[in-house]
Amino acid sequence: MPVVAIVGAQWGDEGKGRVVDMLAQQARMVVRFSGGDNAGHSVVNPHGEFKLHLIPSGIFDPGVVCIIGNGVAINPKVLIGEIDRLNERGVDTGQLFISDRAHLIMPYHLLLDGMEEEARGGKALGTTLKGVGPAFTDKAARLGVRAGDLLDKKALKERLGTVLEYKNVILAKVYGVKPLSLDEVYTQYCRYGERLAPHIRETTIMVDEALGRREMVILEGAQGALLDPDFGTYPYTTSSSPLAGGACLGAGLGPTKIDRVLGVYKAYCSRVGSGPMTTELKDETGDLIRERAHEYGTTTGRPRRCGWFDAVAARFSSRINGLTGAAVTRLDILDILPGLKICVGYELDGKTIDYFPASITELARCKPVYEELPGWQAPTTEIRSYEQLPLEARRYVTRLEELISCPVNLICVGPERAQAIEKAPIF
Ligand code: IMO
Ligand code: MG
Repeated sequence: MPVVAIVGAQWGDEGKGRVVDMLAQQARMVVRFSGGDNAGHSVVNPHGEFKLHLIPSGIFDPGVVCIIGNGVAINPKVLIGEIDRLNERGVDTGQLFISDRAHLIMPYHLLLDGMEEEARGGKALGTTLKGVGPAFTDKAARLGVRAGDLLDKKALKERLGTVLEYKNVILAKVYGVKPLSLDEVYTQYCRYGERLAPHIRETTIMVDEALGRREMVILEGAQGALLDPDFGTYPYTTSSSPLAGGACLGAGLGPTKIDRVLGVYKAYCSRVGSGPMTTELKDETGDLIRERAHEYGTTTGRPRRCGWFDAVAARFSSRINGLTGAAVTRLDILDILPGLKICVGYELDGKTIDYFPASITELARCKPVYEELPGWQAPTTEIRSYEQLPLEARRYVTRLEELISCPVNLICVGPERAQAIEKAPIF
């Protein structure tokens, strides 16, 4: 059985969680490979309605081993809370494992995320304030504390001592706030360590064993390609790679082991946080989409910016991910619209371009060039086969396929597990 990476192909919130939840029924392992609790994955299944931030969306199936990979920044307090809430609702987490190499979000990361955002003033990135950016900064700066460090209290104290000495200088001298107490942070993280110890493992061995048994493994992404620190709207990006390439690094397997890359796109666009978004609709159509789709952040509750499908950005993310297929989610949201627009090019300084510029100042000057398609104005939420979709809906989907240059495997017409249409098999 193959390995499939499921990645966000826009600005996050595409419905990766619901797609993973659905496909996990066929899988034996789901590995989350990037981000932190800045992610918010909504899942509706026979167990109920859930909002996951760190735990892989395969957790609902007792036959699936779930791994939080080394590429994820873990806030242990948030993770323990998430485990507890799932357990209270009868979801077993005995098969949840955490890479010993995953970096931890520490109390100073949360403080710094807030103070750095404040210092940016009008140029704030609109981060989720979960400390994820500062944790990945420390990973690169070789100042991180990792999940495996929780298993050796003596080494943890030593490590924390070194790191806190440095962090406290920044907190006190740069931001003028009270330094953190080594004893308090140490005691708190020892408690987290005791609680999480049974889950912490060398997880790359587990992944390799699953591959050896030819089991189906899902690599679950967070965020989306346009938030990638290299290819997204830098600096208005996140801090770890949401791309399929990031799946190799963040789960601990080589690129030759990934058989399929499924990009998840919403049938329109949304973005939460700052940064350019060419197809943003600041009008009643944008409001209509937001309200119909309840486009408010799962993690922060912020209203999401909504707009038409941006095929220029979509083609770019398909290319840098090497997509073998796509899932189009929330098609039903468009059910009531009389006409639809797809952005097929950008007008930049009087010229039409068909690529996604690296520079945000250029991107901010880009005006969308739209192609208009008729709407279908009929409900699709009960439809389960592609042939039964209204002709206009099929035309919309096939036009997206052409523009993204990748086949659509799956179409979602509602949040429930069953509200999906297989257009073409993924494998
Ligand atoms: P899921 O996995 C949408 C955005 C934030 C902000 C930027 C940087 O649910 O798709 P960060 O806290 O990462 O430093 O914030 O990235 N962002 C997301 N937007 N969905 C997400 O995750 C996001 N995770 C981060 O809003 O603009
Ligand atoms: Mg989300």
